[in-house]
Amino acid sequence: MIYDTLINRIGQLLLPAEGPLKGEDMKQLVVLEDAAIAIKDGKVAWIGQNEKAAQMEARQVIDAMGRVVSPGLVDPHTHLVFGGSREGELAMKQAGVPYLEILKQGGGILSTVKATRATSEEGLLEKAKFFLNRMASHGVTTLEAKSGYGLDRETELKQLRVVSRLKEEGALDIVSTFLGPHAIPPEYKDRPDEFLSEMIGMLDDVVRDDLASCGDIFCETGVFTVEQSRRFMKACLELGLGVKIHADEIDSLGGTELAVEMGAISADHLVAASEEGIQALADSSTIAVLLPGTTFYLGKDEYAKARAMIDSGAAVSLATDFNPGSCVTENLQMIMSLAGLKLKMTPEEIWNAVTVNAAWAIGKGEDAGRLEVGKDADLVLWDVPNYSYIPYHYGVNHANLVMKRGEKIWE
Ligand code: NIG
Ligand code: FE
Repeated sequence: MIYDTLINRIGQLLLPAEGPLKGEDMKQLVVLEDAAIAIKDGKVAWIGQNEKAAQMEARQVIDAMGRVVSPGLVDPHTHLVFGGSREGELAMKQAGVPYLEILKQGGGILSTVKATRATSEEGLLEKAKFFLNRMASHGVTTLEAKSGYGLDRETELKQLRVVSRLKEEGALDIVSTFLGPHAIPPEYKDRPDEFLSEMIGMLDDVVRDDLASCGDIFCETGVFTVEQSRRFMKACLELGLGVKIHADEIDSLGGTELAVEMGAISADHLVAASEEGIQALADSSTIAVLLPGTTFYLGKDEYAKARAMIDSGAAVSLATDFNPGSCVTENLQMIMSLAGLKLKMTPEEIWNAVTVNAAWAIGKGEDAGRLEVGKDADLVLWDVPNYSYIPYHYGVNHANLVMKRGEKIWE
């Protein structure tokens, strides 16, 4: 057989095991040294020792020169589509005004809502494409993207349509999430239940036009209560949508427990998750999506208790939370560094968290996050001597070459 591409002389080929990986299992990362990988028709066709590759024929041979190859990274929590930007809020942040207070004053998420309503579909599309390219350049080949900056039917649908168009036009795989209940818009101030009904009323359209595969809600003080979140999640599940939740990010309300109760595919943030919540997660199939970039960017000292989660048996993944206010970076490698420094995760746990477990957190566990014969050839060649080097050398881009289904999408 003549392969399309052969990548030889790989120092370390990272082969995360089948997931989701819970607790102790997250410590296992299979690493094949002196390896090679062959690609045919966009799929992984062969994986083995480099010496066996010497006889193989390929149209294109890429010499990895002893460096690291991993599966394409999966970013399971992003707010990719939005209008405007919020650099103007820096002074308020520096003065110590809390995130939820900025929101209460009509800034924060609500300022992005204004900008998103005022931006055309084409404008949002162009802007999102720019961010998406940057994500790809940092090694991401699959991601999740949420709506939630419309907070009205028209704008939420506009955001979701942008994601659909990115899926059709772009190289990356995107899982779309409807986050209509992301904040309470000014026109529904003090009437959160009515607003929630309005968002629940949209679900039929979302499902009919296949605009999202999950529903998500911001369960937080001053936003939506646990009871309101339960109501929304039930409505999603009844229509066949999966559910996710922004849970216990700032205050410990019990969103983590609710995620488990509802069989959520993921529970995200979890900085203030209770001990009971962590135990419930460990006993469930819900994936914990931790977002240390957000804790860092909000200037907080306390990070999600990743160690307690993993040590008690939960499946943990990591994401950027890329958004215009609480975490403005497309660089998942930076999040890997924060996971090492602040969440005290080991390099093996970190790699599993941004590949196989991240894929499970968005319902793509069977397709993404792993390299195996027959699966899509989504991979990254990294300019590093070993896999522990990426969390270690922080704030820069280590990706040398990024492939999606065997095609170079960034070099
Ligand atoms: O996940 N916490 C709520 N939502 C986003 C932030 C969105 C924003 O500030 O624009 C988050 O951090
Ligand atoms: Fe978020």
